[in-house]
Amino acid sequence: MRTPIIAGNWKMNKTVGEAVELCRQLEKEVADSPVEVVVCPPFTALSAVNALGLEKVKLGAQNLYFTEKGAYTGEISPGMLVDVGCEYVLVGHSERRELFKEDNQLINKKLLKAVEFGLKPILCVGETLEERQAGETEKVVLSQVREGLAGVEAEKIPSVVIAYEPIWAIGTGETSDGEDANKVISAIRRAVGEMYTPELGGKVRIQYGGSVKPGNVAEFMEQSDIDGALVGGASLKASDFAGIVKF
Ligand code: PGA
Repeated sequence: MRTPIIAGNWKMNKTVGEAVELCRQLEKEVADSPVEVVVCPPFTALSAVNALGLEKVKLGAQNLYFTEKGAYTGEISPGMLVDVGCEYVLVGHSERRELFKEDNQLINKKLLKAVEFGLKPILCVGETLEERQAGETEKVVLSQVREGLAGVEAEKIPSVVIAYEPIWAIGTGETSDGEDANKVISAIRRAVGEMYTPELGGKVRIQYGGSVKPGNVAEFMEQSDIDGALVGGASLKASDFAGIVKF
């Protein structure tokens, strides 16, 4: 059985005070949920959220660099994330790919370093609208998965999470149809099974992301291969995010 995992990607939102307030409220609202709950605040708020000592809500970062330390102005190392209590880290979010020109090779380096430091990576993959219209969804997404996971040891695969986020559904209010998302996610699972073993393919948790809200989350969670959600906009209000967790 795969434990469902719902993660909030706050992006560049929330001051330290706002982050602390949101997490305090969220911790209360989701305390009894069987779902694994993760928040990914901006770097500046990680330490303060960690200091709250939350029991239910786990901490993740939105990005990392692939080196331990040194002259990399503005970057944050995996060890620094571990030091402030992060358990998860997003890798290869489409905004990083598009706005900051991250390619599969760079994302792979980041993912390998995250794993080496004991962080659980959430590898984000997804196609653009043009790629979807050209019938290239699986081709694009599966190469993001294969290249993103290259070199990851089999024993680490159960700690890797994959988030399938069609880019045209992110922040747009448009969502993929549940069955459609499930098809792509099943293909991702098969691809992981082919890279490793079918058993490991069956263990890896795969989320759907893209305009997930309390009102549409159930459509995704009821699908056989979808194990959770990566939530942007609707993770910024404790009541909305809790509504998603309690789908
Ligand atoms: P959204 O963002 O829920 O606001 O569409 C999802 C994401 O970017 O992870």
